[in-house]
Amino acid sequence: MNLNQTDHPLIARFTAAGQGGVFAFLDRLDAAQRAELLAQAGEVDLAEVARLHRTLVAGAGLGAAVPAGIEPAPAVPLPANGGDPAAWARAEAAGLEALRAGRIAAFTVAGGQGTRLGFDGPKGTFPVTPVRRQPLFQVFAEKIIAAGRRAGRPLPWFIMTSHQNHAATEAFFAEHRWFGLDRGRVHFLRQGRMPAVDFDGRILLESPGAIALSPDGHGGSLRALDRSGALDLMKAEGIDTISYFQVDNPLVRAIDPAFLGWHLLAGSEMSSKMVPKTDPAEKVGLFCRHGGRLAVVEYSDLPAATQAGREPDGRLRFRAANIAVHVLDREFVRRLAGGEGTLPFHRADKKIPTIDAAGRPVTPAKPNGVKFELFVFDALPFARNPLLLETSRGGDFSPVKNATGADSPQTSRDDQVRQWTRWLRAAGADVPVDATGLPAGAIEVSPLFADDERSFAAAWRKLSPPPAIRDGLVLPASS
Ligand code: UD1
Repeated sequence: MNLNQTDHPLIARFTAAGQGGVFAFLDRLDAAQRAELLAQAGEVDLAEVARLHRTLVAGAGLGAAVPAGIEPAPAVPLPANGGDPAAWARAEAAGLEALRAGRIAAFTVAGGQGTRLGFDGPKGTFPVTPVRRQPLFQVFAEKIIAAGRRAGRPLPWFIMTSHQNHAATEAFFAEHRWFGLDRGRVHFLRQGRMPAVDFDGRILLESPGAIALSPDGHGGSLRALDRSGALDLMKAEGIDTISYFQVDNPLVRAIDPAFLGWHLLAGSEMSSKMVPKTDPAEKVGLFCRHGGRLAVVEYSDLPAATQAGREPDGRLRFRAANIAVHVLDREFVRRLAGGEGTLPFHRADKKIPTIDAAGRPVTPAKPNGVKFELFVFDALPFARNPLLLETSRGGDFSPVKNATGADSPQTSRDDQVRQWTRWLRAAGADVPVDATGLPAGAIEVSPLFADDERSFAAAWRKLSPPPAIRDGLVLPASS
């Protein structure tokens, strides 16, 4: 291979685009390193990078402009908040029917870098439960197994990883023997990458032989599902509906028959769950209506005054918080991945480890460049009959994002214990709790014992005599 700087077509293209700096250290690299750098450069769409710099960095300020004329989005309420119990029952029956027919796949996006948590390793390997310290992946696996048992039909699980964590994620599953799932039905797909640029639009190097590439955002999951062949596999297996959730939320109802049923009965191509936001400062995206379409506006893009605005009854006006749980129609994903309805990239200013002109490592103290990401919820405006469904926060949402404070391992463990304590009390167990609903000690319920209040009551009734409630109680006791 001729690696003369001007002769090699790829290098010539980069140079012509003002990105020749990517190859500045070529003469220091050995043959393997050069081949790797060229392979990375081959992944980069130079026209796209130039367009993103022009539209998102050079011209614009931080973040996307708030669309004018946005309105709060209405959601189907829970029965407890005025929803029609009969309609919820019909939805649940329809969801169970679809599960029994084998139409549903679980899908987890787990390609993020988890920088805020400060945990070294794929986030799904983080020990999240209060007593057994089970990793997030184990929690989801047990929920998927439980859903399969209830439907009388095991579900496949698709997991999106990134270049950084793909090998470690696969190794973790192998080490844990796929958590009891059928190994052939656990599918890993790697998301795409985007180069980071400095504020002048120059592609940053991470080292003399490597471009600073990072995952293309969870919106990259749509094209990753398509490119990896996952959609074809689903089609061959008769799966037309995808239950999407994030790796950071151990409380998620990974497979929720009522949600699936609402989606299917509405003839929706993409449905989402919301919880009412009560604290204006909570860092969640908000469902809005814009030009007659459902959309999510990120908290960072909505002025604080708008986020704090209230209805006459005191509730926040924009309160439909995005918990990042969606149901997607398979062919809708294929159409979007194929280019019908282009998702916009978002800009994130970051401290990106890079090198200086002499090739020495630089660890920036303040943001030195921009990463570009796609967001999955940007697919909503393209969806036919999108549906927004209310869910209960305590039964569906307690993410682990930060090392301490809000959305941390501690808050998530407490929320898990609160949920299981509610189930215990509803089943008739005598468990004293404090004003926040926490009992004196930690307890843990495996999703294989029960995964909602109803299944808990049934499983609890079968225990004879019921175990004493004590710190460290695990149900089922055998695992
Ligand atoms: C996200 C949502 C926010 C929502 C909140 C709920 C965005 C921009 N915002 O916030 O609207 O209220 O969750 O918890 O998403 N991921 C990938 N690949 C990537 C990037 C992320 O797989 O390239 C995955 C992560 O592994 C994680 C999830 O996407 O499972 C969320 O990513 P994160 O960047 O942590 O989103 P948040 O800012 O917390």
